[in-house]
Amino acid sequence: MNTRRRCWLLTSLFLVGLTCACVFLTTDRFVTKWQDFSPRQTADRKESSERRTTTPERSPESAGEPPKTRDPEPMDAVNPLKGYVGVPDESKQLNLSCGACALVTGSGRMLNYKAGNEIDQADCVIRMNEGPVVGYEKHVGSKTTLRVIAHPSILYVALDAAILEGNYKVLVWGPSKEMDAKTGKTYPKVTSLQDRHPNLQVYKLTEDKIRYGDRVFEAETGLPREKSGTWLSTGWWTVLVAMEICDVIKVYGMIPEGYCRNHPDDQTFYHYFTGRRYRMEDYKECAYQNEQQDFRGGSHKYLTEKAIFARWAPLNNITFINPSWDL
Ligand SMILES: *[C@@H]1O[C@H](CO)[C@@H](O)[C@H](O)[C@H]1NC(C)=O
Ligand SMILES: *[C@@H]1O[C@H](CO)[C@@H](O)[C@H](O)[C@H]1NC(C)=O
Repeated sequence: MNTRRRCWLLTSLFLVGLTCACVFLTTDRFVTKWQDFSPRQTADRKESSERRTTTPERSPESAGEPPKTRDPEPMDAVNPLKGYVGVPDESKQLNLSCGACALVTGSGRMLNYKAGNEIDQADCVIRMNEGPVVGYEKHVGSKTTLRVIAHPSILYVALDAAILEGNYKVLVWGPSKEMDAKTGKTYPKVTSLQDRHPNLQVYKLTEDKIRYGDRVFEAETGLPREKSGTWLSTGWWTVLVAMEICDVIKVYGMIPEGYCRNHPDDQTFYHYFTGRRYRMEDYKECAYQNEQQDFRGGSHKYLTEKAIFARWAPLNNITFINPSWDL
């Protein structure tokens, strides 16, 4: 072999090696590992969390993991409703199992559809915060099975409020500094709610369950919830509990992650009602959600949460209607 041929052979071998290395490095396994790793490495955590969650498709098979029984993973596979306990009797656990659920948001969008009849046909109707029924039946239905309420919202609900009439379950979520039976600032309001309305069955989330919600957020975004400057929303906790109690879920009035970007002129109100806390006309849905997403000191990342819901939807029989999501 002359020098020239040898040189050519070495170059070819080098190129073949390089190609093999590239193929290896771009396998799904490697890419998945790299994505899992990268958000923690990046200085701008917020930006990386958004990048990750706007493309939340993830294929457990290609990552070589054994298929999970549920995704997101439950806090307790044997007892999925562990962590929802009675107020004040914490030895009592939430016991609710539904076929078809309607999850009704508080969005002003609810007023655009006369979905009330359809909502009432569901086996269970789940409502959020102080969204009223009386006077809005045509749009939001009249049945309530479960109402998920945030700790700040419960403080704004008067003990004689019309929404507290009826026989249904109330689930109040909040950190232990608000909801601990001995030291929680909001807890006394929650017990007085139960005292005053024995027809309601009032529950709260244990500290473990709150931490579980944080862990699920971190598993989806790669970011510890506290460090991402976010507070999980009532929508987050409502979707989590709905996945635990319902076989099939229809969500009414929730907009997908990209909706406001694609409808820059949308003027829908944040709520379909005026309450003690919000005057409906002071909040526009898109303006409020965008502002919360970008605000750094303790806000709700509604858009990030919605990108996560979109990933969960096909795995948990969730459909979004009014508006419908393109999944
Ligand atoms: C939960 O409710 C079902 C149906 O109402 C009942 O059969 C079951 O015994 C309850 N479980 C507990 C632990 O209370
Ligand atoms: C989806 O719905 C079907 C039919 O009701 C049910 O058998 C299945 O368990 C549901 N899957 C989940 C993840 O809830």
